[in-house]
Parts: sequence; structure tokens; C-alpha cells
Amino acid sequence: MPQLTPPEMNQAGNNVPTRNVPSHSVPSHSVPSHSLPTRNVPSHNVIAIDGPAGSGKSTVARAVAAKLGMPYLDTGAMYRAVAFTAMRRGVDPDDAEVVARLAADMQLEVDERVLVDGVDATIEIRSPEVTRAVSVVAINPAVRKELVRRQREWADAKGSGVIEGRDIGTVVFPDAPVKVFMTASDEERAQRRTQEMLDMHYDEVAADIARRDHIDSTRPYAPLAVAPDAVLVDTTSSTVEEVVELVLQLATKAGLA
Ligand code: CDP
Repeated sequence: MPQLTPPEMNQAGNNVPTRNVPSHSVPSHSVPSHSLPTRNVPSHNVIAIDGPAGSGKSTVARAVAAKLGMPYLDTGAMYRAVAFTAMRRGVDPDDAEVVARLAADMQLEVDERVLVDGVDATIEIRSPEVTRAVSVVAINPAVRKELVRRQREWADAKGSGVIEGRDIGTVVFPDAPVKVFMTASDEERAQRRTQEMLDMHYDEVAADIARRDHIDSTRPYAPLAVAPDAVLVDTTSSTVEEVVELVLQLATKAGLA
């Protein structure tokens, strides 16, 4: 069974904002919200699934969405699409101003396929080159602001959804009724990702994941972090079915299933 750490409760049953995070997972951060848009839309029926690369969040999020008949949004694909566009246009991913403009101007559809300015980039956004550039693009507060706006717009239009990423429970939908933070040991995550990447070796994949974990969890704006009221799920030794079942139970408890 997945190792589960529910949010701590005080005597009144309220969540207490302190977390015990296993050493291999990403530490909890306070999230500075000053430069990000504040919520001015009503709470959505969102199941927020956050976690680092290889924690299993995409597989689980897709399966939960299918079981519940809810729409699914992969926000990582949106950051990847911005990195892809920068590379395609020959823009340095470090050029914050130009990349921010690209993010604001680009046409983006994320569904089963990822369409960037009308071009199907579903495969290309997963390339090692885009993967190398994406975390730098994701540091950019203006890019984040724009993508968060689009993510909230998506949820407004759909009314509900299973949304996965790094900051969904902390920043994008802090009022989500179900928040799960998935993690797994570094070795297990690298192994899983190596199986998906046909042309990369374990060492290369492990180094890439470690580098991205570091950039993602130490950036000042909306870092990868465990929301105080998220359920922390260690998937190192569990099957996809077990984790899906767990999230479905949480959704049922929250009245979403
Ligand atoms: O699939 P994988 O876990 O490799 O990554 P992803 O979910 O496709 O996300 C790619 C990158 O986008 C992450 O490493 C983050 O830098 C960034 N990201 C983010 O900053 N915030 C999100 N909500 C989602 C992704």
C-alpha cells in the first residue's frame, strides 16, 4: 500500500501547517504570493496532484480523471510548451523578458495532444532538449503568472478537473478540496523515468531529475512544495492501482466522486 501521511490535525480538527516530509522528498516551503495573481474566482472542484518528476503523478492523475469522468490538465506540458517555443524561435530560455512575451502571445491547447500556435508538439515537448530548458523557463515569474492565469481560466471553463503540476495545491488552487503530493525515492523515480526514455541511461536521467528537483524546489516564486493541507503519498513501493484507489477515496470523502 502507498505510504500515506495525512495533513496533521489539531484537536479542533483543523489542519496544522507543519509537515513531516520523508528525507527523499521535497521539503515544504512557504510560498510567496505577492507577485502572483490572487484568486478572485470561486472555489473549483479541483483535485490537485503535485510532485516531482517520476513520482507517478501523470499516470495517477489521468487514471483518476478517467474513473471520475473529469477533465485532466497537465500543467507541466504548458511550461514545456513555452520552453519548446523559445527554442523553436531561437530565443535563449534565460532571456526572461522575451520568453515572457512568447508565453503571453502563444496559442496553446493542452489536451490529449499539445498544440502550440497550431503545431502539434506533443512529442517534441518531451525531448531531452526541452526537458533541459524547462526549469529555467519555469523560474520566470511572468511566465508563471501567465500560465497560472490560463490554468484558472481552464478550470473556470470546465468547472472541475484533475490538475497536476508542482504548485497546484499551493498557488494555483489553494482552495482545492483534494490535494495530493506524490513522491518516491530518488532511485525509484529515476528508474521509472529511464524506462520511459528509450534513448537515455539511468545516470543521465537521475542527474537530470536531481537538477530539476533542485531548481524547482529552490526557486523563489511558487516552488515545488507540499501544501500544508495536502496528503503526502509515498509511491516508492506501491502500484498505480493502489494510489489511484487512494485518491478516489479522498475524492469520495470530499464529495467529488
Ligand atoms: O513529467 P515531468 O515530471 O518530467 O515534468 P513536467 O510535469 O512535465 O514538468 C516539467 C517542468 O515544468 C518541471 O520540472 C517544472 O520546472 C515545470 N513545472 C512547474 O514549474 N510548475 C508546474 N505546475 C508544472 C511544471
